[in-house]
Amino acid sequence: MTDVQALMRENYPGNTWADVAERDGRLPPVLAQQSNPAQDLSDIPFERYIGQDFFEAEFEHVWKRVWQFACRDEYLEEPGDFFVYDIGRLSAVIVKTDTGLKAFYNSCLHRGTKLKPSGSCGWSPDITCPFHNWSWNLDGSLKNIPCDFEFPQVERDKAGLTSVQVESWNGMVFVNFDADAPPLVAYLEVLPDHFRNWDLRGWYVATHVRKHLPGNWKLSMEAFMEAYHTPFVHPEMTNVVGDHNMQHDIFSRHVSRDLCAMATASPTAQKSMSEQELLDMMLVGDGKMIGARAKVPEGKTARWVMAQQLRERMKSEFDLDYSGHSVPEMIDSIKYHVFPNVMIYPAPGLCLVQQFRPDGHDRDHSIFDQYVLHPKPRDGKYEVAEVEELGEDEAFASLESMDPFLASVLDQDTDIMRAQREGMYTSGKGAQTLSSYQESRIRHFHKTLGEYMQDASA
Ligand code: FES
Ligand SMILES: [Fe+2]
Repeated sequence: MTDVQALMRENYPGNTWADVAERDGRLPPVLAQQSNPAQDLSDIPFERYIGQDFFEAEFEHVWKRVWQFACRDEYLEEPGDFFVYDIGRLSAVIVKTDTGLKAFYNSCLHRGTKLKPSGSCGWSPDITCPFHNWSWNLDGSLKNIPCDFEFPQVERDKAGLTSVQVESWNGMVFVNFDADAPPLVAYLEVLPDHFRNWDLRGWYVATHVRKHLPGNWKLSMEAFMEAYHTPFVHPEMTNVVGDHNMQHDIFSRHVSRDLCAMATASPTAQKSMSEQELLDMMLVGDGKMIGARAKVPEGKTARWVMAQQLRERMKSEFDLDYSGHSVPEMIDSIKYHVFPNVMIYPAPGLCLVQQFRPDGHDRDHSIFDQYVLHPKPRDGKYEVAEVEELGEDEAFASLESMDPFLASVLDQDTDIMRAQREGMYTSGKGAQTLSSYQESRIRHFHKTLGEYMQDASA
């Protein structure tokens, strides 16, 4: 155990995430791991959030070099299906071909026109430019040039679309604009090993909400990387969900994790609740998945009932066997962050993907995509959710598709993000001071970010 973890146990005796989870039974090896190496505690300059030069450099040194989540597999099932992934001014068209996935820069080889509109997806038999109708086959090879006799200089067999790397892992499609980048599996480091018990390929996007947020993409994302703010911004959560007692793990350059206990009071709770009250009040990100509330039998906990109920539902409704999964694996908020901008929650009680990107080419605004995943039904019939888009001033709470409690929590976060951005601009100090444990993953993220920026300028 590292010093900081010992400090957590000293400050929250019997109530760290591991303490709570171990009371449910023996932890599986992946969840029993704890890793939080000591880090340099220096302040981090606000320049990283509000500096235009830093923002521009991120595109050159980060976005053009990293593997980044683009979409789920289910957008790309039949040959001809396409999905346009955008990051700032960069855009890639991902297509499903007879032989697998391909991706290309979303730019015509004639005079540069964007081939498919940003943010679009759908089906087409080929890729045809809307300007003068140059067209390419799904594999990227040149198909046709109108009046081709006028282009003697174009070598047909070398006029294929320019490739972008694309790979799928666990139902998730990632792209990399760097042609020389090592394979995705190397980039994901410990993640494939940690996800052996969580196969998300049989799941699909049941709800997709896209919200425009009032802060730099990192500022927005970092609100999801700590629960230090929870008792102050979301005081209603403290009686039923962990916060300051969450576990924060840093595994490798690109991967970190936090573990948050559901149906248990946090150390900052205002009142103590019975197990039945915990179950009745339980807020889950995806209430639809847990099902109706039940009675807590004598000697059992709300956590046990929720896990059991969920296992039964998974078996009866989806024919998925979770009998070997522990209580925390079923119901807790288990959140993996993959550098730079995606969070994956694999537990069936709260199965989500969250992604944070700059909003266009604007350092002060970001786009937050939240994909709620449900298991594909037995009959194989499902429809991938249409995106529900919310402007900066539109509330999550206005959406019927969202769990009302989760929606109100996200709206509280949005207000704080705006205040944080405005405060950064008027700061006399010019830098942030992060805590050694609860905000350690934000610090680790900045370390990796700094390495990418440094490597590139070297
Ligand atoms: S710009 Fe694409 S065909 Fe002319
Ligand atoms: Fe929050």
